[in-house]
Amino acid sequence: MDQEMTQVLDEHADTPQAAGFVAINYITCTPDYRQRFEELFRTRAHAIDRMPGFLGVHVLRPQREGEPYLVVSYWQSEAHFRAWLRSPEFLEGHRRGFEDLRQAKERGEEPPMHSDFRTYEVIAR
Ligand code: HEM
Repeated sequence: MDQEMTQVLDEHADTPQAAGFVAINYITCTPDYRQRFEELFRTRAHAIDRMPGFLGVHVLRPQREGEPYLVVSYWQSEAHFRAWLRSPEFLEGHRRGFEDLRQAKERGEEPPMHSDFRTYEVIAR
């Protein structure tokens, strides 16, 4: 690798640009939960920020009605991501969302959101 390229990668070493692995959670909300959902993310716990290998996250609101929100998380490696899934930080970062799901279930209501995640390897940048 030439010196210029090494420099570019170094400068972005702790940013999403350097990610080798990406996990995307696709979340569909009921229409009346959207405002609450966005509020939860605006005031998120930031527990994940303490995890080794975590490089950043983008939360994307769909422009088209009915499509899922994307929570795009960037990692140095899959092992770093898997460690977060098993960590207390994962639960800390999801306390309020999981509590909303629990309460809806207790009231016998449909869940206010559905989530489905997929994982990706970065093959070009
Ligand atoms: C049942 C599954 C899941 C649901 C319903 C869900 C929903 C949510 C909600 C509502 C929040 C806002 C924070 C809060 O609750 O206070 C949140 C945080 C977050 N979610 Fe999820 N999520 C799930 C699983 C996942 C998975 C598998 C990923 C990654 C692929 C992910 C990535 C994130 C990230 C990065 C945050 C921010 C955490 C922090 O600030 O520490 N979530 N999620």
